[in-house]
Amino acid sequence: MKTGANAVPATRWPYPRILAHRGGGALAPENTLAGMREAHARGIRGVEFDVMLAADDVPILMHDTQLGRTVPGVGDVGAFDSEELARMDAGAWFDPRFQGEPVPRLEDVVQWLRRHEIWMNIEIKPMPGHDVDTGQAVGQMVQDLFADTADPGRLPLFSSFSAKALAVAREVAPGIPRGLLVESVPPDWEARLAALECVSLHCRHDRLDAGVAHRIKAAGYGLMCYTVNDPARGRELFSWGVDALCTDRYDLVGADLR
Ligand code: G3P
Ligand code: MG
Repeated sequence: MKTGANAVPATRWPYPRILAHRGGGALAPENTLAGMREAHARGIRGVEFDVMLAADDVPILMHDTQLGRTVPGVGDVGAFDSEELARMDAGAWFDPRFQGEPVPRLEDVVQWLRRHEIWMNIEIKPMPGHDVDTGQAVGQMVQDLFADTADPGRLPLFSSFSAKALAVAREVAPGIPRGLLVESVPPDWEARLAALECVSLHCRHDRLDAGVAHRIKAAGYGLMCYTVNDPARGRELFSWGVDALCTDRYDLVGADLR
């Protein structure tokens, strides 16, 4: 391998290149096992999903901090314990055929995905003020669930908008790699990635340009873009060196790349 100043380090993306956003994307209810089943049935090998803490500190899959959009009800998701959330309906909003789909626990989802050999990008999405306890609980659980795995390509990848949550995850789960999640790539991206010992940067595709993409790749980091639902845009991003796309339309985007 070349080690000269101009050599581009090997990519740090030993993972699938097409990820179903929130598990189900636009084809099934987000952040549910039904969504994962749909993705699996359609040949998807990698998923991204969101994790926060229920009131009993059990990590569960959820995007919004409030009930109302994907789960009927009002109030903070974090005010309900995981058993109460499991009795709620996270599927009917999407389509009546998914009625009764529970809010799943992270542990059950990880086990199901592992059984089906689906790789996962676990986005740690703390409720406001819960960066530390969420990073701690999710980090510990995932570290334990993957204690038997040595193959780097089979380990999940944590990501988060919360640098605090990622820092705690690094402490409790040093063996699980991390990616920093941003909307626009900040000018100090390299320092931020280095500070958290991240392997990748995850950004909005419509805030990225080819020059920045090249610099991130030349620095040896993985680069993932969300949420890319247009196949032509996906091809353009890949031509810039982007490693992976998170998409709601995994039936359309990168169908040849799974
Ligand atoms: O991880 C990429 C993407 O999921 C981040 O945005 O709001 O869909 O969780 P959001
Ligand atoms: Mg997400």
